[in-house]
Amino acid sequence: MVAFTSLLLAAAAVTGNVMASPLEALKRGIQPGTGTHNGFFYSFWTDGKGSIDYTNGPAGSYKSKWTNVNNWVGGKGWNPGPPKTIAYNGTWNNYNVNSYLSLYGWTTNPLVEYYIVEAYGTYNPSSGTTKLGTIQSDGGSYDIYKTRRVNQPSIQGTATFDQYWSVRTVKRVGGTINTQNHFDAWQKTGLKLGTWNYMILATEGYQSSGSSEIEISEVKKSA
Ligand SMILES: *[C@@H]1O[C@H](CO)[C@@H](O)[C@H](O)[C@H]1NC(C)=O
Repeated sequence: MVAFTSLLLAAAAVTGNVMASPLEALKRGIQPGTGTHNGFFYSFWTDGKGSIDYTNGPAGSYKSKWTNVNNWVGGKGWNPGPPKTIAYNGTWNNYNVNSYLSLYGWTTNPLVEYYIVEAYGTYNPSSGTTKLGTIQSDGGSYDIYKTRRVNQPSIQGTATFDQYWSVRTVKRVGGTINTQNHFDAWQKTGLKLGTWNYMILATEGYQSSGSSEIEISEVKKSA
């Protein structure tokens, strides 16, 4: 990211008065990485294939458009992401391609990648795995699963770790998610969580093309 930005700024300096155009280019989409934007943490990860235009918008909003990717995931949230109730809304219309819309995050020690899947496209991520339980939360029913990833990309580099899943049986785009309910249900099922790392409302694309426009906020407990 640093090298790319420096290159554009150097080009802008040479051309002098057309400095606005490279900066405009930077504003449209960002390079893969993590950071903070308008008070929210964001993460944008790709395995490098295809093209993705990921853009952070006002407050907890972001837009994405991807073409012929292998795998990418991105969105806004918090780091660290301890249990909280979140609200989200927007547009995700990828029912006919391979994509997920999830509250997505990580813990360390143990290293866990977790998904509370609100909507998915052509592939149900729980295909071929055994249902470990069911949880009722936020007006819906979610099925609980665990899968294992061997030597795969993680926030700690290539590693072997578990993925925990709550998959909403009736897909939706928009609502509230009480993450504590899921964390409690997982732990009761024997799925141990570690130290909170980041938590984002993520769009993910797998061997597909698609788009999304999502906004997230935290629902504060009333005093
Ligand atoms: C989410 O809802 C708010 C309030 O209705 C609206 O202003 C905003 O544009 C919506 N965000 C998205 C990404 O659709």
